[in-house]
This record gives sequence, structure tokens and C-alpha cells, in this order.
Amino acid sequence: MKKVVAIYPGTFDPLTNGHLDLIERGSKIFDELIVGILRNPEKDPLFTVNERKEVLLRMTKRFANVRIDTFDGLLVDYARSKGARAVLRGIRAISDYEYELQMALMNRKLDPQIETVFMMPAEAYSYLSSRLVKEIYQLGGSIRGLVPELVEQRLKGKIKPKVIRPKR
Ligand code: PNS
Repeated sequence: MKKVVAIYPGTFDPLTNGHLDLIERGSKIFDELIVGILRNPEKDPLFTVNERKEVLLRMTKRFANVRIDTFDGLLVDYARSKGARAVLRGIRAISDYEYELQMALMNRKLDPQIETVFMMPAEAYSYLSSRLVKEIYQLGGSIRGLVPELVEQRLKGKIKPKVIRPKR
């Protein structure tokens, strides 16, 4: 039988434990899972593509069938170029659903051969996002358990937390 290759696309700025949870789940059901980091300067990311790639490479070493790559342009074109039949996306809460449904249906319109597969991360990560991690870290809050230690170290090198004490 033909092996099933899936793309797990995203910005990963930075990688969270929710992303890692999904990568682990995806690696169990697909023969090969390619984590595709979008090279998108419009989003004004905190970490460069190479920094994000390096973190992902180190954090996914233990999964033999996971590869890390970067891409530009349309996701469906990239998926086709890799021989992928599926796109993996995580859905944390109902609020994700509308955006994800729109993307999945638009990708299906662009290429009906590619299926979007949704998976739910562990409940502990259902409220977690890269955006909140950056915001909390910047304001001096704890992000312990939300991102790998390596990401916490990398954040230290990028952001100097500004702790603002409320006035009494
Ligand atoms: O982690 P994100 O930011 O939610 O990931 C969004 C991503 C990368 C999956 C999406 O922006 C994407 O697929 N971009 C590639 C361009 C594209 O194909 N756009 C049309 C989507 S319907």
C-alpha cells in the first residue's frame, strides 16, 4: 500500500507543547509527517525561520517519521510537491473551528485530492497559543509547562520581560 504523507503547516513562532503534542499524535497515524514552517515575513515573526527550524529539529529528533521543512506560497502546491495526501491541523476549541473550516474548504477547492485532517491536542493545551506565550513572557508571567525548555531559553535571548506591577 502507498504510504500516507501528511503536512503539518504553521508559523510555530514559537513552538509550543501543544504543537509538539499534535506532532506526536500525527506521527502515530501517518507514515511520514512533514512539519512545514511558513516563510511569511508579513507576519513579522519573533524568531527567524532558521531559529524555528532548529528548535523543531531538536524537539522532534525522537520521531523517526517526522521531517522539518519550510515553505512559501500556497499550502496545497507545497503539499502536492511533497506527494502529501493530507494536511494536519489542530483544533483546540470551537473558536478555532470557523477559521480552520474556511481554510480546509478553500484548500479542498484548490486541490480536491488533499484532505485536511483535524486532531485535538491534549486538554491541557486547549487554551495555549504561540501568541499568548509571547505576551505572557513579555509581561513577566510564567510559561513553564507551556513550551519546551529550549523555547524558554530562546525567548530569554529575544525578549527582556517588562514586569509591570499594578498600583495599589
Ligand atoms: O500557525 P498558523 O499561523 O495558524 O498557520 C497558518 C497556515 C500556515 C496554515 C496558513 O497561513 C497557510 O496555509 N498559509 C499558506 C498560504 C496558503 O495556502 N493560503 C491559503 C489557505 S486557504
